[in-house]
Amino acid sequence: MSVQINLGIIGAGKITTRPLGQLESIQALHAPDVQVKALCDVVPGFARKVADQYGIEMAFEDYHEMLKDDSINAVTINTPTNSHKQIAIDCLKAGKHVYLEKPITINAAEMKELLDVANASPGVFVAGSNGLFQSQMFLFKKMIDAGEMGEVYMVSVDRAASLRDGYGKGIRKKALNEGISKHSASHNVEWALFMLGDPKPVSVVAKGYYKEGNTSIPESAREEDDDGCIAMVLFDNNASFTYKAFRAAPMRDRYDMKIYGDKMSVEYDVHKCYKGDQFGWFYKDCIRMYRKDDFVNMQEIDPHFDVERGHIAIYRHFFDCIRRGEKSTISNGERGLVTMQILDAIEKSIALGGRQVMMEDLK
Ligand SMILES: NC(=O)c1ccc[n+]([C@@H]2O[C@H](COP(=O)([O-])OP(=O)(O)OC[C@H]3O[C@@H](n4cnc5c(N)ncnc54)[C@H](O)[C@@H]3O)[C@@H](O)[C@H]2O)c1
Repeated sequence: MSVQINLGIIGAGKITTRPLGQLESIQALHAPDVQVKALCDVVPGFARKVADQYGIEMAFEDYHEMLKDDSINAVTINTPTNSHKQIAIDCLKAGKHVYLEKPITINAAEMKELLDVANASPGVFVAGSNGLFQSQMFLFKKMIDAGEMGEVYMVSVDRAASLRDGYGKGIRKKALNEGISKHSASHNVEWALFMLGDPKPVSVVAKGYYKEGNTSIPESAREEDDDGCIAMVLFDNNASFTYKAFRAAPMRDRYDMKIYGDKMSVEYDVHKCYKGDQFGWFYKDCIRMYRKDDFVNMQEIDPHFDVERGHIAIYRHFFDCIRRGEKSTISNGERGLVTMQILDAIEKSIALGGRQVMMEDLK
């Protein structure tokens, strides 16, 4: 039996409305069985205004009112992270399917509470990084699982954004607990876990940086937040993940992920892939792959595939799970919990001035 999916979106801010944001991504799917039926935002009149722009029928200021509408069977949560857990629990308990933006929660304790509710609910729960679902990531994963890359022993992410581009202003000033070691690393820790086969994290070493006058950190959060982060996570399968991210660096914008295998390695220039050139074409060389031949010479191989960006792929997955009446097997919150444990450990190591934190010592 076919299911009509009537979606309500909570939070009408940037990720909902920006170019390549969620509303555009849903439109790009051209799914006849999906309708964005309602928008909700606490700012008086804001949801109505945005709903009118996009031809969305219903607008709410209190999400509890939206949840009472039985015609809405699916909800996306795009509010600041410190509100995620409670809103998600309320949505799941109201019998809705839920897609929850990253960072899923503010810490692992919240994530555990939410995951228990999600696992006990019949609805679909998809939570976390949209970037994980894009076709290029699945290509890398397929190559890893097929053994083409040999032993994959490290994933690294290197990210820099300069204040010139306004990165980190706006929401970061308003919302606590959204420093670079949480809001940005939450994507990348999930990606690393996925690529490395979900190994068990053993320990974390991390250092955070912030500077007086750095506008992307709210003053009240400076004691507990950071504007630059360098971290190393060690896993029980001998693999590691290294993370470097600076959002106030006078540095060319960059966002690279590298996957190191003993037979093959991948360089993924995320910004280049997402942005394309001025004609709207994706850069062909935004993903580069290198392989050792039989004589241990290195060859560059040319990957032929389309890259995806935005939220199209995660919505395709969310809607497919609802259509099939099946829980997500990719991002159902289980990896989200490990991600939050690692982010907690990063936070703790930063607070300890860079001392190694053993995962088994975390409560
Ligand atoms: N996947 C990505 O690449 C990506 C990028 C940016 C942001 N995000 C995530 O999306 C979420 C929202 O970020 P944003 O940039 O759109 O923020 P934003 O501040 O632009 O929008 C958030 C909106 O939520 C509304 N809101 C807050 N509490 C609410 C509540 N209880 N009920 C209804 N509305 C409420 C606010 O009024 C605001 O309009 C965050 O979790 C953020 O981490 C993800």
